[in-house]
Amino acid sequence: MSEFKYDLAVIGLGYVGLPLAVEAASNTLKVAGYDTNDSVISNLNNAVSHVEDVSDKALSDALSEELSFTSDSNVLGDSEHIVISVPTPLTDYQPDLSYVEAASKSIGENLKKGQIVILESTTYPGTTIEIVQPILENISNLKAGEDFLLGYSPERIDPGNKEWTFKNTPKIVSGINKKSLEKISKFYKSIIDEVIEVSGTREAEMVKLIENTYRQVNIAMVNELAILSNMLDIDIWEVVEAAKTKPFGFQSFRPGPGVGGHCIPIDPKYLSFKTRQIGQPVRFVELAQEINNSMPNYVVSRVSELMNKKEILLKNSKILILGVAYKKDISDTRESPAIDIVQALIEKSADVSFYDPFVEELIVNKTSILKEVNIKNFSNYDLILIHTPHSDFQNINFNEITSLIFDSTGSFTITNVERI
Ligand SMILES: NC(=O)c1ccc[n+]([C@@H]2O[C@H](COP(=O)([O-])OP(=O)(O)OC[C@H]3O[C@@H](n4cnc5c(N)ncnc54)[C@H](O)[C@@H]3O)[C@@H](O)[C@H]2O)c1
Repeated sequence: MSEFKYDLAVIGLGYVGLPLAVEAASNTLKVAGYDTNDSVISNLNNAVSHVEDVSDKALSDALSEELSFTSDSNVLGDSEHIVISVPTPLTDYQPDLSYVEAASKSIGENLKKGQIVILESTTYPGTTIEIVQPILENISNLKAGEDFLLGYSPERIDPGNKEWTFKNTPKIVSGINKKSLEKISKFYKSIIDEVIEVSGTREAEMVKLIENTYRQVNIAMVNELAILSNMLDIDIWEVVEAAKTKPFGFQSFRPGPGVGGHCIPIDPKYLSFKTRQIGQPVRFVELAQEINNSMPNYVVSRVSELMNKKEILLKNSKILILGVAYKKDISDTRESPAIDIVQALIEKSADVSFYDPFVEELIVNKTSILKEVNIKNFSNYDLILIHTPHSDFQNINFNEITSLIFDSTGSFTITNVERI
């Protein structure tokens, strides 16, 4: 029996932390969720989830069992395991570890012998031992690897993915020493189907970055080929579908309006920040970023070209963006290419609205907030620009729409359509 009141405390209850807290509680662990945002805590305590992958019902069931939420950091001293899942954004284009540092400080102030601390936030190799460990040791006067255990485990959650969930996606685990690794591995084995141990925290931190850099680079490659194929009058969508039939050696990626979310546009920057410290760029990352970042403007230029052909002026034209979330069936608009697309269209004096079943408002730049409209009549618009392939949109009969349609997702069967 553990001497602690809780088996697990989760710091940061967002897309990563909340599913972990709920899953652990449903595996009969006693769980405390801790977040500095009072309105997040108040909604969660009322069983209102802000994360699509966690239903209000699952939350309410977990609350009636072993889960509780608080903004009181004292709870961190009462839990055997503590997982950090706070944001790691870019500020002024540089890795911003201030949230990880603040979370480590809160743990350090409450740390007791026997506790096990695990960083899950995505970050550059070295963060666990160079940033988290010294903060914990200096504040608590306890020794990592002896008095308390420490490790890193990257979160691989794919929001909105119903097939690969928190539970059945293999989990990479690491520790700063053997004892830490053993305990951390045992903990995740109690809630996740498959656990994979790596030799050190820097390797585990790098695993996450290699995964997301791989995606970023391959998306950029297919985006560049899409632009070139359009110039060569080749249908890239048909090419990708055909290439995909090769049963080995090829994984298909689809062109799109750019990359968004908290991972693909950001994580490779963490990698290049680290390699820049040893004077080396990651050339692939920089080129991929340049190509992916150019996609929103490419979409706008194609839209403008299409309207030109039909002799419709972009200026004062009515454009409806279908979907503004960065990916299918979720509400997250962080770093969504839709933001740059809308901004560029507004700069060209187009009259832009959006419809997204998951999103109520879109902050385009710090001052302008575009409101979601309720679509009744598509024909009110000169052009419909499909940005996110939400499942709901499959119910729209696009072939009945008389407006121009530009599908940047290539996901809909439409007779008269322009695609990337
Ligand atoms: N969203 C994803 O799909 C995804 C997938 C894998 C990994 N990650 C990584 O996981 C980490 C968390 O991402 P997220 O999307 O869950 O973030 P999020 O913004 O959805 O949630 C983070 C939560 O942390 C809270 N928080 C911030 N500072 C805090 C502090 N000092 N103490 C307690 N709570 C604090 C915020 O209030 C917020 O509720 C990031 O490093 C991200 O890169 C995200």
